[in-house]
Amino acid sequence: MTPPPLLVTCGLPYTNGPCHLGHLRTYVPADAYVRYMRRKGEEVVFVCGSDNHGTPIVVSAEDAGISPRALSERFHKHFDEAFKRMDVQFDHFGMTDDPANHHRTGSIISALIENGYIYKQIVNQAYCTRCKRFLPDRYVEGICPHCGTPARGDECDQGCGKHLEPGEIKEPVCKVCGTKAEFRNQEHYFFKLSEFKDFLLPFLDNLKGTSNAKNYAIGWIKDELHDWCITRTLEWGVKFPGRDDLVVYVWVDAPIGYIAFTEEWAKKSGKDWKRYWCDGTKVTHFIGGDIIYHHCIFWPALLKGAGYGSPYAIVASGMVKVDDHKFSKSRGYVVWTNDDYLDKGLPADYLRYYLLSYTSHTKELNFSWKVFGERINNEVVNIFGNFVYRTLYFAQKEFGGIPPGDPDPVIATEIEKCLLSVDRFMQEYEFKGAVDAIMSLAAFGNSYIQTNAPWKLIKTDRAAATNVIRNCIQIVKALTQLIEPVMPDSAQRCWKMLGYCDEAKHHPISDATLPVHEVCTSAPVPLFVKMEDAQLAELDALLQKRVAEANKKMEKRPTLSIDDFAKVEMKTGKVLAAEAIPKSGKLLKLQVDIGGETRQIVSGIAQFYKPEELVGKDVIVLTNLAPAKIFGVESNGMILAAGDAASLLTPLRGVEPGTRIR
Ligand code: MSP
Ligand code: ZN
Repeated sequence: MTPPPLLVTCGLPYTNGPCHLGHLRTYVPADAYVRYMRRKGEEVVFVCGSDNHGTPIVVSAEDAGISPRALSERFHKHFDEAFKRMDVQFDHFGMTDDPANHHRTGSIISALIENGYIYKQIVNQAYCTRCKRFLPDRYVEGICPHCGTPARGDECDQGCGKHLEPGEIKEPVCKVCGTKAEFRNQEHYFFKLSEFKDFLLPFLDNLKGTSNAKNYAIGWIKDELHDWCITRTLEWGVKFPGRDDLVVYVWVDAPIGYIAFTEEWAKKSGKDWKRYWCDGTKVTHFIGGDIIYHHCIFWPALLKGAGYGSPYAIVASGMVKVDDHKFSKSRGYVVWTNDDYLDKGLPADYLRYYLLSYTSHTKELNFSWKVFGERINNEVVNIFGNFVYRTLYFAQKEFGGIPPGDPDPVIATEIEKCLLSVDRFMQEYEFKGAVDAIMSLAAFGNSYIQTNAPWKLIKTDRAAATNVIRNCIQIVKALTQLIEPVMPDSAQRCWKMLGYCDEAKHHPISDATLPVHEVCTSAPVPLFVKMEDAQLAELDALLQKRVAEANKKMEKRPTLSIDDFAKVEMKTGKVLAAEAIPKSGKLLKLQVDIGGETRQIVSGIAQFYKPEELVGKDVIVLTNLAPAKIFGVESNGMILAAGDAASLLTPLRGVEPGTRIR
């Protein structure tokens, strides 16, 4: 029987924000692994897609004033492009909201129901009487029942980190309107995860991948396994079969996306998806350390319960930090793939090298521009790039290309040793080990050329010098072949300089030991450009600025005494007239009746209101603000507004203009 083909997947990115460095630690190593396995002759399919469901996406879409589908399509396209720019090449990149996944999820839920793994139960769930809806997951905030820290509806994100089931959160408050929520009964569906303990223990014992995934999961299983509530009261998502008012929890349909995307890929390539999922499978999931529970416990149990094969390997990376801080968009500790990296003209290969070689895959990766610059300059540029350029330059100069002949046995042995070592590391998902082995070969090459100094030797013994350079060329070829999974673009450029017209990635990795017979025609150019200190400083300054701005936003204002507040004079006013201030773009000039007195006020709200729609409106005016000239126009007071889109404050019940606010 032919062994089952390898199917590699990556944790699916949520479509509510752009791609960042944290994401890349899942995708870049997976891509390098797939490239390597293909070069070893394995049949590999590499699928991924975007994760479109769940409350954060609904909340973000509401904020953006578009539908969750439109938001998902926008970010889906963004991720697809960002991955291509990073040379992460999926065979298929789908969407969990597409029909294939709706269909596959419905079919798996039906199988689970049929097999007796799903039951109904009444849940006492948070409900907002003002918004008139149940509050699933992130629609609700409150207090963690386990540790007492403020928490989100589905997770104690600031405190103990525990997953919270619907109904568990204490003192729930509606995230949309701020109203204290009440608990109301609602019927939900549960998955009998607790019945899978006997399946999961031996499954985890045999699971391949990284030890962190396996060990964490075994540790968790030793505790009680709780059944999972798998439905939510939401419009957006995959409908629970037979229930128009419920969708399945996002963590049900998201991993099922792995199957749906395989189906979509199989359809377009004329293959059979069942070969990958039904028996004797070789499914390898690449994920970050934050979603081990979902992949090692919940997902295999779902598959088993519905009669599918089990994952073969789970490869979990350590988390990415920035400047020794937990990755956080709101605190500014983030590096955006496009804005902060690719759009600055930096090569994808440098970041790929850094992500793969910084530390062992299961360890934390602490990003800083300083270390990034050092690693690139000291290793990629000075060791690898330098050796390649010296060799090719000398060959071109003295021989007009590559001199014929085979490499010495010692050189061949050194290359063989490196191939074996890289292979061992790659099979163990130890990407740093593999990159280090390649760099050792480059360092060996550098010291070999330095010691043998062919530029001197050639003056006395041309044959010996030819032999030296012939050996160096062989090392360059091996390095090119070996580095391709890590830095595909650079490898290809180097391949061309060696005189090849085809693609390096189409050669088996073992070609590294075959002699080079091509003729080097083009004049060699340096493969890599050094990162300049000034550029690194600029990139770092941008990061520091973002952190400072985020801090400022979160800064707490000092407490005011009642006497301080008494100094503030605010009154209701009625807008009598409004006109745009020409050329200012943002400013309106308003005449406001504040009770027996008309004030002229300049307000920066022209982007949000047409002058005519303001006339006659009741507003709140800060009346004792010192007068100022704005854009050359006198302004006597300030109109109060909330938020970035300047929603104007107005009294709830009609009052006379000039009524004091207290
Ligand atoms: N949508 C879920 C995964 C569903 S898989 C069926 C999700 N999305 S995510 O956008 O938050 O993350 C996508 C991938 O990036 C995941 O593999 C996740 O582990 C990884 N990372 C996101 N931020 C990360 C860090 N700061 N560090 C390391 N990896 C992290 O999770
Ligand atoms: Zn907690």
